[in-house]
Amino acid sequence: MQNFLDINQIEQRQLRSILDDASRTKAARAGLPKGTMDVEQPLAGQMVALIFEKPSTRTRVSFDLGVRQMGGQTTVLSGSEMQLGHGETIADTARVLSRYVDLIMIRTFEEATLLEMAEYASVPVINGLTNRTHPCQIMADIMTYEEHRGPIRGKRVVWTGDGNNVCASFIHAASQFGFDFVFSGPATLDPEPTFVAEARAKGAQIEIVRDVAQAVRSADLLVTDTWISMHDSQTARERRHNQLRPYQVDDALMAMAKPDALFMHCLPAHRNEEVTSSVMDGPHSVVFDEAENRLHAQKAIMRWCLAQ
Ligand code: CP
Ligand code: NVA
Repeated sequence: MQNFLDINQIEQRQLRSILDDASRTKAARAGLPKGTMDVEQPLAGQMVALIFEKPSTRTRVSFDLGVRQMGGQTTVLSGSEMQLGHGETIADTARVLSRYVDLIMIRTFEEATLLEMAEYASVPVINGLTNRTHPCQIMADIMTYEEHRGPIRGKRVVWTGDGNNVCASFIHAASQFGFDFVFSGPATLDPEPTFVAEARAKGAQIEIVRDVAQAVRSADLLVTDTWISMHDSQTARERRHNQLRPYQVDDALMAMAKPDALFMHCLPAHRNEEVTSSVMDGPHSVVFDEAENRLHAQKAIMRWCLAQ
């Protein structure tokens, strides 16, 4: 039994084997209607709980569909409707769910909830986003980059905007997959120093460059995300927008990256805030391939967790 909690906690060769497996099963079902089962049914007879304390489109649909394609069944739970949201402890919830299901995927506000769930569950737990990280997203993003441009090792990935949970998982991935990572945003929204220090200690090249035009120079991949995440308070909305506006990805910024640079965004995007529609819908953008690859990457993550 293996949890999938964060990219920095899994051995490099395991991460690589998950992505290889994802590509293999993606290719194996090419052209099949979406609701068709996979040729192999590794989750036959298995039940998966998908718990959401926050909204979701991609994570919810891709995990649900992925389990079904592999022959398993799902129960989708909203945190507020569970007893968990009304006083039952996380530990007791974990113990109870472990009697009913074979795997738990959870999207939480607090990382502590995920960690406690993993501690007390006797079945594997997958991180479907917390306030601090979003590892499934970055597995899909690396898969997407490599499908379009080959190995990500040695490439320059530039993140503009808020140093948030998605950014943190990119920093984890930099040391594990061997790419250089540049953060460009206001100092008040820097990624957590512990993430940066740990990646550097593992040998990753992590730069912080305030001047966004300088940061994107020779970027192979330009990434951004919403300026206000689901765990952020809305009260500072205007101040954050003012701070982050210089880091918007528009055509002029995209043109400063390498000519064959890709643009990524985990979605949901706020068009014409962190990224213009012209970049989202332009020739560099692979945002919908990322969304599709959530399905394939997560199916491989679930098989890895269940050793299937
Ligand atoms: N990118 C992502 O996790 O999207 P959802 O919030 O729609 O799941
Ligand atoms: N940073 C965003 C990602 C959403 C998928 C959030 O946490 O809201």
